[in-house]
Amino acid sequence: MLKKLYVEDALKMPEGSEVELLGWIRNKRIHGGLIFLDLRDRSGIIQVAVKRGVVPDGEFEQAESALRESAVRVSGTVRHDPRAPNGVEIRCRRLEVIGPSLDDFPIRKGVKVKFVLDNRHLHIRSPRVAAIMKIRARLLSAARNWLESRGFIEVNCPSFITAAVEGGATLFEIDYFGRKAYLTQSSQFYQEAAIYSLEKVYSLQPSFRAELSRTRRHLTEFWHLEAEMAYAELEDILKVIEELLYAMVLGVYESSQRELELLKLKIDPDAAKPPYPRISYAEALEILDRKGIKVRWGDDFGADEERELSKEFEKPFFVTYWPREAKAFYHMPDRENPDVCRNADLLAPGGFGEIVGGGQRIHDYDQLLERIRENGLNPEDYKWYLDLRKYGSVPHSGFGLGVERVLWWLLKLPHIRDACLFPRTPARVYP
Ligand code: 4AD
Ligand code: MG
Repeated sequence: MLKKLYVEDALKMPEGSEVELLGWIRNKRIHGGLIFLDLRDRSGIIQVAVKRGVVPDGEFEQAESALRESAVRVSGTVRHDPRAPNGVEIRCRRLEVIGPSLDDFPIRKGVKVKFVLDNRHLHIRSPRVAAIMKIRARLLSAARNWLESRGFIEVNCPSFITAAVEGGATLFEIDYFGRKAYLTQSSQFYQEAAIYSLEKVYSLQPSFRAELSRTRRHLTEFWHLEAEMAYAELEDILKVIEELLYAMVLGVYESSQRELELLKLKIDPDAAKPPYPRISYAEALEILDRKGIKVRWGDDFGADEERELSKEFEKPFFVTYWPREAKAFYHMPDRENPDVCRNADLLAPGGFGEIVGGGQRIHDYDQLLERIRENGLNPEDYKWYLDLRKYGSVPHSGFGLGVERVLWWLLKLPHIRDACLFPRTPARVYP
C-alpha cells in the first residue's frame, strides 16, 4: 500500500510528528523562497510549507512549477501553527510530483454552471461534492442497516423490461435485438413476485424516466430504494416509510457532522421523527384551494402544487387516498370509497415535495384485470403480473423512495443533480 496516512489523521498528530502524505495540490501560494501548498486528499486539506534550502533544490523547483491538482507525495514534520488553516501545517522536507497536471486545471472560481457540469469528472474533486457523496453513502448505508434489521431481504431486479409500471409516457424504449423493450421505471412488479418467496424484500437500483420536464427535481436516471411486504396494508407500509426515513436522517446526523459543517448545514433529526402527519388527497385539495390554487378532482399534483402544499408543514407528511384516475392501475381501491385508493405520497416540507410514493396493491385477480382494462392497457402485457394473483395471492404493500430526492431535501441542494456523482437529465448524458 503506497498510502499510510490521511490528512485528517495528520491534523490530529502531535507537534513534531514525522509524516508522509499522498494527495493533490488544491492551491498554491508562492512567497519568494517559501511556497504554501494546500494538500488535498479525500479526508481534508492541510497546508504544506515548502522552503528553499530545506527541501532539495530540484524538489523546490518542482513544487514551484507544479500546476493545481498535480498529485504529490510530501514528507515532513507536523507543526501546530495558529496562522495555518486548521491550525496545523506540514514543514516539508521531501516532495515528489507523482502525477503532474499537464495543463491548468479548468475548474476555478467564476466559471459557468454549464462548464462545471461539462467537466463534472473533474469538478467532483471539490470538497463540497466529496462531502455530499460521503453523506449519500451514509444515507444509503443507514437505509440498508434499518431494512436488514427489520428482516427485509435485498433482491436485485432487471432493468430491461417489457411493460410499464408507472404509465407509458415516461418509458425509455430500446431496441432489444429487434424486439421492443424498455428501461424500468420501478422494480415494484418484480418485488411483488419476490414476496411470494421472501415475504419482505427491498432493492436499491436505478430507475429510468423519459421525463422531458426540466425541473430542479427530475432526473432521467435515479436511484430507487424500493421495498415490498406480504401481509401488509396501507397503514403498515406508512409506518415502515416513516421509520425508515427517520433512520436515514439519524444515520446522516450521527455520522456526518464534519461534512455538514463543510456544507454549512444543520440537521435536526427531530424534524424527521415519526409519526408524520397524514392528510387525504381531499384535504390537500382544500388546503390548496384556501391558498388560491385550484386542482381538479382526479388530477395528480404538479411541482407547483406540491411546493405550495409542502410549505404548510414542518415535518414530512403523507398525502393519502388518491383518486384512482390520478395514479397507476395497480393501487388498491378503498373498501368504503372505491373512488380513491389505499396509497400515499410522502412529501418533504419546505417546498420540496414528493420523495416517496407507495401504498397497498390490488391482490385480487379480477379486480386487477378490470383496472388494467380500465386504463386502456393490454392484459397480455401484464400476464405474469396477473399470474401472481392466481396462486396464493395475499394483501401486500410497498413503496419507492427517490434517493436523490431525499438528499436534495435533506441537504437543501440547489438542484437534484447536485445529489448525483454523474447526473442524467434530458440535457445531459455526458460525462
Ligand atoms: O412515485 P413513483 O413513480 O412510484 C413508483 O415508481 C412506484 N412503483 C414505487 C413503488 O411503490 N415501489 O416513484 C417513486 C419515487 C418518487 O417518490 C420520487 O422520489 C422518485 O421515485 N422519482 C424520481 N426521482 C428523480 N427523478 C425522477 N424523474 C423521479 N421520478 C420518481
Ligand atoms: Mg409518485
